Amino acid sequence: MTPLLINAKDICLSFGGVVAADHIDFELRAGERLAVIGQNGAGKTTFINICTGYLHPTAGRIVFNGHDITGLNPRRIVKLGMGRSFQLPQLFAEHSVRQCLEISAAARGGKLSWLTPLSRSVDSFEISETLELIGLTSVANEVCGELPEGHKKLLDVAMALMLRPTLLIMDEPTSGVSSQDKHGLMALVMQALDERKVTSWFVEHDIDIVSRYATRVAAWIDGKIAADGDPQTVLNNPQVRQEVLGEMPC
Ligand SMILES: Nc1ncnc2c1ncn2[C@@H]1O[C@H](COP(=O)(O)OP(=O)(O)OP(=O)(O)O)[C@@H](O)[C@H]1O
Ligand SMILES: [Mg+2]
Repeated sequence: MTPLLINAKDICLSFGGVVAADHIDFELRAGERLAVIGQNGAGKTTFINICTGYLHPTAGRIVFNGHDITGLNPRRIVKLGMGRSFQLPQLFAEHSVRQCLEISAAARGGKLSWLTPLSRSVDSFEISETLELIGLTSVANEVCGELPEGHKKLLDVAMALMLRPTLLIMDEPTSGVSSQDKHGLMALVMQALDERKVTSWFVEHDIDIVSRYATRVAAWIDGKIAADGDPQTVLNNPQVRQEVLGEMPC
């Protein structure tokens, strides 16, 4: 079996009366491509926020790659090799695509400084290689705030890759992207992650994308994992079909 990357036990978090994480046990192994599905408000982003240090659970323990990360802040968790992209891409809107990657690279190396031009403190070959890998070379000099949504999503992933993660967690990488562009975007992202040998966990509402790109599916319902396993089994689970996919009972 491949190494255990995430081992989370009995994770709990509530917002007032809303139980967003209800005693969650979760494991993720190196090499998996996990798709997380669930209705709006099921707790998918909350669990990502807990694992990445943006929220702290009120109970439970999370081990990442052998390190207990419960209660650590996002910066320390990133340094241990857990990357993330966001439901709404977190970009430096006024900067060019290339400059955004330079900022990520400089942040990784602790070289962000007002005194040194960014392009001199980072490896320009690595930037160009990552732009090529993710299909953004042709827009490298464009201001990222003006890019179409699909390019913003790719850039968010590319910025996370500059931090050289072992695992990349992507919260709805195809949301806001037209249905004809979604497959091309996911193909580029998955190819890039395979090339860099990065394990992936992505939240996705489009079941075609889930079926095509995931090796495992976990279905979230009301702050719990209701089903978890190979895609075919989970997508055919009666509770998942009714409560996640919205099918009417027979
Ligand atoms: N910071 C917060 N303060 C209060 N309630 C919150 C907060 N974050 C999430 N919630 C609530 O927790 C529940 C789970 O939210 P979460 O964002 O994790 O859902 P989700 O599965 O990611 O949904 P979506 O598919 O819409 O992104 C929801 O009821 C939400 O309103
Ligand atoms: Mg969400």
